[in-house]
Amino acid sequence: MREFIYYSKSAVTAGNMIKDDLKKAGRMDIVCNVIIAAFFISNAMRPDVKLHLIFDGPPNNPRHLVLESNEDMPISKKNVAGLIKKLLYKSPDKEGLLEIVPGASVEKKSFEKLVQDLDKDGKDIYLLGKRGTDIRELKNLGDKVFIIGDQDGFPKYKEKFLKQIEKCSVGPKIIFASQVFTILHNELDRNL
Ligand SMILES: C[S@@+](CC[C@H](N)C(=O)[O-])C[C@H]1O[C@@H](n2cnc3c(N)ncnc32)[C@H](O)[C@@H]1O
Repeated sequence: MREFIYYSKSAVTAGNMIKDDLKKAGRMDIVCNVIIAAFFISNAMRPDVKLHLIFDGPPNNPRHLVLESNEDMPISKKNVAGLIKKLLYKSPDKEGLLEIVPGASVEKKSFEKLVQDLDKDGKDIYLLGKRGTDIRELKNLGDKVFIIGDQDGFPKYKEKFLKQIEKCSVGPKIIFASQVFTILHNELDRNL
């Protein structure tokens, strides 16, 4: 299973705040691009992806959404925002993942708690950024969890926490989060 975390400081955390203009919902348009890049290839859905989304925007932050490849997950490239909206509407206001539709769950959990929980589970976690070990130098890519930030990266107050995490880079230019997913998948595909 390929495992990723996408953190967004701005993504809204209430279903009724997701309207036609996704940009106004804390750049939910970027979240949708990330989901598409994480799960879709030409004419198919990748069968082996687990994507954690941490939304840290108003009014109910934090929210932890988990999407996992599942033939029955009701997701298409056209209704990604609809699925997120449904998850936010039905989110419990406490920790404990609740499956809302096949392959899609939600709970209240912070970024830090998620990373700590995955670390306790023995996961090998890497923070993606321009500076860091070149992805091509890492061994056993398929066993790692990759953390990607939103359009603004990570807030300053998270720096101390982020310092503890290993860093890796997919290249010398700062690119869109969704492009990072495409490159990571490609590197993983080439390592199969
Ligand atoms: C659009 S970038 C964020 C730009 C933001 N101004 C910053 O400086 O962090 C979105 C995310 O993509 C990832 N990213 C961008 N370029 C990268 C690169 N060359 N290698 C690895 N990750 C990268 C980082 O995780 C970043 O937080």
